[in-house]
Amino acid sequence: MQGNLKSVYSQVPLTVVVIGASGDLSMRKIFPAFYALYVQKHLPHKFYIVGFARTPLNTDSFREQIGLWLEKEVRNISLKERDDFIGNCYYCQGNYNNIDDYNRLGKLIEELEKNEKSNKIYYMAIPPFLFLTVSNSLHLSNLSNDSGGQTWTRVVVEKPFGRDRESSDELTVGLQRVFREDQIYRIDHYLAKEVIQNLMVLRFANLILEPIWNRQYVDNIRISWMEDLGVEGRGGYFDEYGIIRDVMQNHLLQMVALIAMEQPIRYEADYIRDEKVKILRCITPVSLSHLVIGQYGPGIHKGEQKVGYREEEGISLSSITPTYSAVVLFVKNRRWDGVPFLLRAGKGLSKKMTEIKVQFKDVPANIFSEIVPHMSPNELVIRVQPEAMIALKIVNKVPGLTLSLRESYLDLSYESAFETRVPEAYELLLLDVIRGDRSLFIRSDELESAWDIFTPVLHELENKRIQPTIYPFGSDGPASADLLASRFGTTW
Ligand code: BG6
Repeated sequence: MQGNLKSVYSQVPLTVVVIGASGDLSMRKIFPAFYALYVQKHLPHKFYIVGFARTPLNTDSFREQIGLWLEKEVRNISLKERDDFIGNCYYCQGNYNNIDDYNRLGKLIEELEKNEKSNKIYYMAIPPFLFLTVSNSLHLSNLSNDSGGQTWTRVVVEKPFGRDRESSDELTVGLQRVFREDQIYRIDHYLAKEVIQNLMVLRFANLILEPIWNRQYVDNIRISWMEDLGVEGRGGYFDEYGIIRDVMQNHLLQMVALIAMEQPIRYEADYIRDEKVKILRCITPVSLSHLVIGQYGPGIHKGEQKVGYREEEGISLSSITPTYSAVVLFVKNRRWDGVPFLLRAGKGLSKKMTEIKVQFKDVPANIFSEIVPHMSPNELVIRVQPEAMIALKIVNKVPGLTLSLRESYLDLSYESAFETRVPEAYELLLLDVIRGDRSLFIRSDELESAWDIFTPVLHELENKRIQPTIYPFGSDGPASADLLASRFGTTW
């Protein structure tokens, strides 16, 4: 995480090959992130960014495209720095399964290197069904080698890693035929969000939380992930995966792991991931009785009429893919047994917001309960976005001559507390790939355990063709999710 930056400044040049370089992810996230690293002097002195994709472009038109996107994505961009950066970008057009094209890519890299071998990153900004085709082609064209250990070669892949445990295992085995596990960087960009990184610091660098961080004091934990967007032109992808695979099995489960895990032996990648795997293995697979699924229908959001999911481009009128899901998880260990972890995630909702709430139990024998009969218990609120914030709900006396109590918050807003710029998740992730820190990346056994929690219920939903409840775009999701929460004595 905050490792030693020395290795980044190493004299060894760096070649980044972005496979799928002309796509949306590359232009919107990857190039702006590399640009930000370049501006902050986190890239080695000599670096080459090579785009490889099917789109017919050449180096000039590729540079032009990147330049335009950088202007769009980067605030107050310096034109000189932009031009210097894009001067390091090159393009090689090719088909993902054509070895001759990879040989040309190899030649281009050699020309750039001019006998000075570089470290290599292959960033697969392509749909997952192409991962194995590309990794095999890299292997067959001798591009996946570590050049005898003098330099390193790393590969970056992004979720979804399969559709279930079986397909994920196939992907893992296929990738590991070409790359060692320590060369594979599986991204979950939520792990690089500032507040999510802070979860471990909050828990393990402070004394006061640990004694109450357990079943004796915690009543329930709730995680809400809400988005006020539809599928935004990604209908083809989304309909194949649905919200559980898109965000729950990964982003939300990673939050659960960081909230629930034990303290790692040391603050190092493998120790952290060992603890995450351990806790994920303690989670009982989700059962249908603890699951709600929904799909957004037409609705009005911020005064604008929105179409329903089934009317979106590329979606069939009979699609039963959930765009909303609420589940209850149980962690079977000494710390958490019996504490429900309620998770909800949805698109087409009223707002964009990601938040974790740790609700504590009622105060026993509370001497104020006669004055305020329904006092709400303490709650720790950790808001990931839109504005980063940590707040503790406490009960307070309202100033005055009579005894009146009110809940208020001890709150820490990141914006007012820290004046530094919050980096984009991708900046940190790419920097970590360069410096070889795998703490924020998903290890294969972690992925297996995450799939084990959701695979049975995903199969059941599909086999029984269970219909999602339709909710209006712009609402807070189906009422059945509120009922599910109320079965555990809480509200979202
Ligand atoms: C991605 C999902 O992983 O995260 C998208 O595939 C979602 O469906 C996105 O919109 C949200 O990311 P963020 O960083 O905007 O919260």
